[in-house]
Amino acid sequence: MSEVTCSLTIVGLGYVGLPLAQGACLGGLRVVGLDTDSSVVSGLSNGVSHIDDIDSVDLAAMAEAGFLATNDSSCIRGSDVVVICVPTPLDDNGAPDLSAVEAAAWTVSEHLQSGSLVVLESTTYPGTTEDIVRPILEEGSGLVAGTDFCLSYSPERIDPGNAEWGLRNTPKVVGGLTPACTERATWFYTQIVDTVVPTVGLREAEFAKLLENTYRHVNIALVNEMAVFCHELGIDLWDAIEAAKTKPFGYEAFYPGPGVGGHCIPIDPNYLSWLVRSVGYRFRFVELAEEISDRMPAYVAKRVQDTLNTARKPVNGSVILLLGVTYKANVRDQRETPARPLAALLWEMGADVRFFDPFVDVFIVDGEKKMTGESNLSEAVATADLVVLLQAHDEILKSDVFRNAGHVLDTRGVLTGANVERL
Ligand SMILES: NC(=O)c1ccc[n+]([C@@H]2O[C@H](COP(=O)([O-])OP(=O)(O)OC[C@H]3O[C@@H](n4cnc5c(N)ncnc54)[C@H](O)[C@@H]3O)[C@@H](O)[C@H]2O)c1
Repeated sequence: MSEVTCSLTIVGLGYVGLPLAQGACLGGLRVVGLDTDSSVVSGLSNGVSHIDDIDSVDLAAMAEAGFLATNDSSCIRGSDVVVICVPTPLDDNGAPDLSAVEAAAWTVSEHLQSGSLVVLESTTYPGTTEDIVRPILEEGSGLVAGTDFCLSYSPERIDPGNAEWGLRNTPKVVGGLTPACTERATWFYTQIVDTVVPTVGLREAEFAKLLENTYRHVNIALVNEMAVFCHELGIDLWDAIEAAKTKPFGYEAFYPGPGVGGHCIPIDPNYLSWLVRSVGYRFRFVELAEEISDRMPAYVAKRVQDTLNTARKPVNGSVILLLGVTYKANVRDQRETPARPLAALLWEMGADVRFFDPFVDVFIVDGEKKMTGESNLSEAVATADLVVLLQAHDEILKSDVFRNAGHVLDTRGVLTGANVERL
């Protein structure tokens, strides 16, 4: 099989699947994207992207390379490779919800052909590919994994909004059910990324992703906890971090903030702690990190109260402007954003909460409470009793509006000035 004739079906065209489709198109593969959400399919078919890092120019280039988005699963038939990139959220009890992975595996199984490679990319606990996906694929297709078709796992490391590290230059970890499955997946990804890193098996590839995210989760919580007592001790934690990170070895900088958000950090470590509980242990580092970072929105609300108090103003009735309500800078993704619990708390305290975010027009705080974004940043800043910088979007930072603000609470440690107080 030559590289240019490899045909690929990607199941799930979200933050992970769509950039992969783009990378595969650039790598010369014939790519079809399968998604159950008809609005995603029709949007992409009409050149409209729902993902930050892919725009209509990218979609046009992909269409030129033959990319097709569809909700017709028969596209799987005849694919050399099928990659599953569907969501892996938590259920109402905080346990892994693999329903999308299972549904996708059943869909793939109905059309799976001998000689294909199936890769799971969704973040999940070790054992999922072998114990959940494999039996579904085998039962639905009547084929045997490792013999009739190859089965592998490859964690996605995409960092939305990161201009330096993209799909091609970020090393890709792959693990297979058998050494031949690993080899086949390595061959496949070599067409799309510069460096492929094979693991000894599926579980190691699955664990690598959770190790990376748990490491971030714990270290962010560490600095979040430090931010609380550094404030009381009169220490500028950001300045201390800048000093510490000049050490060329043994230290990696993490930064405090108003809480953690997105699809990875607040969710993925729970997949691991759920698995750890199944063998009789508690994953205390993860539980502690979660407890600390979950408290940050309430801590920011308290700091809002303290800052206003110093200015002899009550929270009740004060205009509080939240700048940036997405979960990270320069993206429009609002999943698990800490702005949501913070806005709800300030609302309950009687504040007149407003927001500005170049990526968000309407911010849904909860089912009933919807906020429409301010359209004029300068005016919104000038009329607020307190401005709270939650996300350091480039567009907000370059606007230079903070000089006209009364008081600013900077939860990102990026602003300076007599009217600025850092978290
Ligand atoms: N977003 C990130 O930055 C990121 C980074 C690394 C890993 N991940 C992991 O990748 C996986 C996907 O995340 P995402 O952010 O791309 O999710 P997403 O919600 O952006 O996209 C998932 C897509 O899958 C589609 N889908 C759901 N069930 C389907 C099915 N049965 N068949 C076909 N399509 C289906 C949805 O309609 C949606 O368009 C998750 O496991 C996530 O943890 C995400």
